[in-house]
Amino acid sequence: MNDEKPAVPAPTSDPQPAPAAVPHRRRPRYAGKYPRRFEEKYKERNPARYGDTVAKILASGKTPAGTHRPIMVAEVLAALAPQPGEVAVDATLGHGGHAQELLARLRPGGRLLGLDADPIELPKTEARLHALGFRPAEFTAHHSNFAGLPRVLAAAGLAGADCVLADLGVSSMQLDDPARGFTAKFAGPLDLRMNPRHGQPASALLASLEPTELAAALAENADEPNAALLAHALAGRIFATTTELARAVREALPRSGRDGAELAVRRVFQALRIAVNDEFSALDTFLRVLPSCLNSGGRVAILTFHSGEDRRVKKSFEAGLCAGIYAAIADEVIRPSPEERHANPRSASAKLRWARKNAGAV
Ligand SMILES: C[S@@+](CC[C@H](N)C(=O)[O-])C[C@H]1O[C@@H](n2cnc3c(N)ncnc32)[C@H](O)[C@@H]1O
Repeated sequence: MNDEKPAVPAPTSDPQPAPAAVPHRRRPRYAGKYPRRFEEKYKERNPARYGDTVAKILASGKTPAGTHRPIMVAEVLAALAPQPGEVAVDATLGHGGHAQELLARLRPGGRLLGLDADPIELPKTEARLHALGFRPAEFTAHHSNFAGLPRVLAAAGLAGADCVLADLGVSSMQLDDPARGFTAKFAGPLDLRMNPRHGQPASALLASLEPTELAAALAENADEPNAALLAHALAGRIFATTTELARAVREALPRSGRDGAELAVRRVFQALRIAVNDEFSALDTFLRVLPSCLNSGGRVAILTFHSGEDRRVKKSFEAGLCAGIYAAIADEVIRPSPEERHANPRSASAKLRWARKNAGAV
């Protein structure tokens, strides 16, 4: 770098007109070899250009950034048996992986309504499915909590659906985006909201909780064995970022070992996510209104990812069977094959249950 000042030219007797001032332009900064920001970091966010990168990532059992791998697709399709001309609802549209498979089977003449609480990912999925050739007459996206399904159906002029799918929890796009604050894997704001325009972030919730309330949430939402101890260490404190909270969890469990502490971090994040998004209330409402949203003989399939969710679905389907609302329900919970668990470790905890509405039930 040259710090010397430029020499000032000596005045001449015959001055030339001064050249027009050229605005100073900064040299573009060298971005470095490795991009730092999430949005520019992953090649797989541009699959059209980096198809081979995407293929390698999938083969290694990982999920390409900005996407989501649908879980137990064959099992879901077997349970829902979508037919041409039918009406389907994907109550948790996500990346649209399941929706895409359903849509292909509803042709000709069928339609699918895709709901999601996430206003950030929903328009991207809507655009992706339209770009794949699913016309608005076949596919519409609805920003709604699935607890509001009756309202969405009524607004679309539909009495009910023949197939309803709910694939609970969060998508890989949400998990992998540090700005959403869903995981301790990346530093980001401690948010955890599926709809960041609604409610309070996890940081505010945690700061407002009493230890007894947090202990109850950790036990109920994540079966956390050290609920009381962790609640005492974390409740009422202010953690601005995901990594600050993760560090505090590890510090509270000095004798748990590395793996034990990481599992506890994951359970704390799960418990907070469920609390922040009021997930159990939404699921309870959804299960209650479901029979009225299904056409006669309609099928529902629900994928859950932990015991608190599965217990609710199981009880609701069993009660519906006893009451004659459902004609048949899954005898046993259906789990992903060992091959799928190996190929997609995020599927490991998935459980599928289905029910079929009685042809005579209203
Ligand atoms: C596991 S992902 C679904 C992935 C999807 N099946 C696919 O193939 O791409 C779950 C999605 O459900 C959404 N979600 C979770 N709870 C919801 C609720 N109560 N109402 C509506 N959407 C919800 C999340 O925002 C997320 O996009």
